[in-house]
Amino acid sequence: MDGGLLQLIPYPNEVIRKDGWCKCWDHVQIQKEKRQGNPEGYCLDIQEDGIRLTGTPAGIFYGKQALRQLEDQFGGELPCMQITDAPRFSYRGFMLDSSRHFLQKEEIKRLLDAAALLKLNKFHWHLVDDQGWRIEIRKYPKLTEIGARRGRAVFTRIPEPEETHEFLTQDDIREIVAYAANRFIDVVPELEIPGHESALLAAYPEYSCEGTDPEEQRVQITGGIFKEILCAGNEKTVSFLKDILDEYMDLFPYSYLHLGGDEAVKAHWRSCPKCQRKMKELGLPDENALQQWLVRTMADYLEQKGRHAVVWNDVLRGEKLSPKVAVQVWLGDKDLIEEFTSRGGRIVQSTTDYCYLDYAYSDIDVKKLLSFDPVPDYLKDQEKQVWGMECPLWTERVTDLTRAAFQLFPRLPAMAENAWSRKPSGVDGGYCPDSKWYESFCRRYENVRRELDELGLKGAPEKYWNMTPEDAARERKELENLLDTPFLQRFRKEEEALLASEREVYGRF
Ligand code: ACM
Ligand code: ZN
Repeated sequence: MDGGLLQLIPYPNEVIRKDGWCKCWDHVQIQKEKRQGNPEGYCLDIQEDGIRLTGTPAGIFYGKQALRQLEDQFGGELPCMQITDAPRFSYRGFMLDSSRHFLQKEEIKRLLDAAALLKLNKFHWHLVDDQGWRIEIRKYPKLTEIGARRGRAVFTRIPEPEETHEFLTQDDIREIVAYAANRFIDVVPELEIPGHESALLAAYPEYSCEGTDPEEQRVQITGGIFKEILCAGNEKTVSFLKDILDEYMDLFPYSYLHLGGDEAVKAHWRSCPKCQRKMKELGLPDENALQQWLVRTMADYLEQKGRHAVVWNDVLRGEKLSPKVAVQVWLGDKDLIEEFTSRGGRIVQSTTDYCYLDYAYSDIDVKKLLSFDPVPDYLKDQEKQVWGMECPLWTERVTDLTRAAFQLFPRLPAMAENAWSRKPSGVDGGYCPDSKWYESFCRRYENVRRELDELGLKGAPEKYWNMTPEDAARERKELENLLDTPFLQRFRKEEEALLASEREVYGRF
């Protein structure tokens, strides 16, 4: 179980140390294997007279990452050993929110380099939200002409620029998708439906509900939850969304696309004659069911084209969701999740308590992240339904790449190791959630830290990794102070009132 001597992250499944040393780095024999138990597995055999790496194409890529880390550690001479390795989970992802704050194309590539080093294989790209639409859609140019332009924002006390106009062209997107593909990373782009639509509706207000105040249709300048929602009763909304998805499908080859679905405030739907008519026509009991109908319509459209949808777990509220749709879990909703997985549905674990890397280290430190079992007790007998894990980085408080790196590292490496190396409960050996794992992780982290530093991605210093109560209290206070402005206080009050009115109708938000 102790991986202290080999500075490998994620730690491999099996390492058999042998006598002798290998001095011939330039003698790596690579053998592709079509069929292996795990489509991402590899075997690295380091012998005195050379190195043999076998695996699937992805496995060989991962074997090279491991070899690179060993080379960093040992330099010219490598101890002989045999490594047999494969990930436990086939979905190992991170999410970047490009709406609230925008990283440049080259900066995103650096994050993808880091992800590749950690053997992550999914990049969930949150491209659109209330505070900015960041992807060029050729058929609807106003999405970026208007939706990507924002006045001076107030996310925290940190001063923001006067005006920004930031988005990725389709050429930029293709470049990033190709860059990711070269690193065996699938890009899962998100199109938020039906809420978080302020930027979209600022550009195309004709897709909002009847009676919506045009004054409210603006790219938002603060974080939070807003009422802006697509009109589900307008026939044209569906064809508009299909047009956008067509361009998404053209840009993103991976079979899954994310259709959002979180935090959709239904206030406008309750008063919109078109939405109410639609509910009657379809015999739907409430607006949650209307949301599901819209998601199902779009998910079916993807299915027709040979693709699949991922949605946030809010979409489980309503009628039964098709198990063809994958669900990203960020909230509790245990009963709904259990019901969904029992029908064959798959989930990606992103629970806020452990996976949200925009949260402060005082809430989620490295030690806590390693203690996270992505297969909760209530899913132990449906373990196969857990597709994997993903750590979101929401960027309201992440103003630039420096801050992103602070939030991500070393928590993302810890999550990557958790998703790759953690053994199912009851299996002997391997990693399990005890303090030895954390200690071993810290001892093995040096290599990765150096590589990340070289990429210009400086993570949080040690005192954040396993926080003392005093340091945690101090960090919380700093954060409170950062958010304590009269403008934000006023906004939070309005937001709380909005959520309370939704809770009154649906019992939960
Ligand atoms: C979310 O954090 N609103 C998915
Ligand atoms: Zn409507």
